[in-house]
Amino acid sequence: MRRIAALCLALLLLVLGSGVAVLYHLGTREEFVAGEPLGATGDAAIARGAYLVRLGDCAACHTARGGLAFAGQRPISTPFGTVYSTNLTPDPRTGLGNWTADDLWRALHNGLSRDGHFLYPAFPFPNYTKITRADSDAIFAYLRSLAPIELASRPAELRFPYNLRPLLAVWRALYFRAATWQPSAERSAQWNRGAYLAEGLGHCNACHANRNLLGATDPEGRLSGAQIPIVDWYAPSLIGSSEAGLLDWPTADLVTLLGQGTSARATVFGPMAEVVQESLQYFSPADLAALVVYLKDEAAPAGTSEQPSSPRAVPPRAAASRLSPADPAGAAAEERGWRIYEDSCEDCHGADGQGVPGVYPPLAANRAILTDAPVNPIRVVLLGGFGPVTAGNPRPYGMPPFAQELVDADIAAVVSSIRSRWGNHARAVEPIEVDRLRAAPAD
Ligand code: HEC
Ligand code: HEC
Ligand code: HEC
Repeated sequence: MRRIAALCLALLLLVLGSGVAVLYHLGTREEFVAGEPLGATGDAAIARGAYLVRLGDCAACHTARGGLAFAGQRPISTPFGTVYSTNLTPDPRTGLGNWTADDLWRALHNGLSRDGHFLYPAFPFPNYTKITRADSDAIFAYLRSLAPIELASRPAELRFPYNLRPLLAVWRALYFRAATWQPSAERSAQWNRGAYLAEGLGHCNACHANRNLLGATDPEGRLSGAQIPIVDWYAPSLIGSSEAGLLDWPTADLVTLLGQGTSARATVFGPMAEVVQESLQYFSPADLAALVVYLKDEAAPAGTSEQPSSPRAVPPRAAASRLSPADPAGAAAEERGWRIYEDSCEDCHGADGQGVPGVYPPLAANRAILTDAPVNPIRVVLLGGFGPVTAGNPRPYGMPPFAQELVDADIAAVVSSIRSRWGNHARAVEPIEVDRLRAAPAD
């Protein structure tokens, strides 16, 4: 019965979808000619394209683990199934060998493949639509300069009905409008450059903004924090001062964090470590400065000037639910957590959670471990790991994994402990929350 209902629904959507697709094509025809090709070629265009490809982090998704650069086949897990990235090298049969600069522009700007089929938004074209035609052409020049690699793309493995590509017409009608980058006349050139990088090429909101049930990000593009589905890391809110607390960050620390992956206040880890390693570390000093100017401004609540709040400001919800030593079970867990900390963590992170500057991150007043959703500190303790390898921090120090050594209750206790000591005030963690994360994929 259910299957039949699903089939009817899918057919209905398909019919609706085709209608919308026709309308959509009519509606966007203008868009295709709007960007005039500049025919950028030559070494300068290739060098510029190589830089832009870094800013857009194209290689991270288009290179499989242990695979050849830009040859595709990296699986991208979504709540609807797995989509594989494609081969961007100029191989005529399996890559972009027969593509023109117009074709690439259409993919980035409109989310359409060369033959016109809709691309899945696991490819962040809702951000890349803001890339300028000049930048798209430079990217094309660079991709053409790569050595061709023959490697056919793998078909997506999505559940019914999401596997029906034409249905993307409905999604696009609801959530996607091709957009041309419009600098704001009221803002400085530096702010505008930062906005172009964050909203377009850098696609920060692909992780830092919530997605709705059909996987579309918040149309406002606010970086209000989100649990990344399937991957199960939490990308904190970058606005206001409660989560990542960018308002409190001195600009210099933020520049080092994003450019080198480590700073006196925290290090990046998980998917953010890859973003820094593959993309942000290559930003020119001017582009990194522009990005930080934009981020700090976005972090400020609308209509206020920057008002740094205390680094230990307590979100009310977190404060209410933190461990109370008056409760005997809570006191026992706290005791247990602290013992584990002394045995397994203190050597590196220090008795006062102060860390060792440039070597081990502090845990006191480290916003990255205080988010209401505790997935990140739990997963760091389970998996351990290294910060990103960058020119500014070529040999990052590592943290051992504790998944084998500590049971769920121990990890819950030690994570609760670091979240509630040294002036930290975040809610306690339950063993069940650790259990759920043990099965999550490592990346
Ligand atoms: C977050 C991962 C991700 C990033 C980052 C990314 N891509 Fe992709 N890209 C994909 C996926 C997945 C597909 C396949 C989509 C599909 O099958 O519908 C794709 C498809 C494409 C296609 C269409 C190829 C075809 O044969 O239709 C082009 C062109 C492309 N990407 C170029 C780029 C460029 C250029 C960049 C950097 C500016 C980039 N991508 C960054 C994931 C990504
Ligand atoms: C692939 C997903 C992903 C993308 C894309 C991404 N982030 Fe993140 N980001 C995360 C995750 C997960 C964390 C939490 C881990 C951490 O704190 O290092 C994070 C953390 C951060 C932090 C806080 C670090 C701290 O220690 O408090 C900042 C700042 C940040 N991201 C900025 C950015 C900017 C700017 C961009 C766009 C250029 C971006 N992110 C793109 C996933 C992502
Ligand atoms: C051998 C030294 C070492 C030990 C022991 C160690 N850590 Fe770490 N820890 C690190 C390093 C290095 C990082 C940065 C890793 C990264 O960036 O991926 C880190 C990162 C973290 C983070 C994320 C904070 C941030 O800003 O990156 C947390 C939370 C954490 N450790 C908690 C613990 C706990 C709890 C224990 C004990 C169960 C522990 N660590 C034991 C070295 C250590």
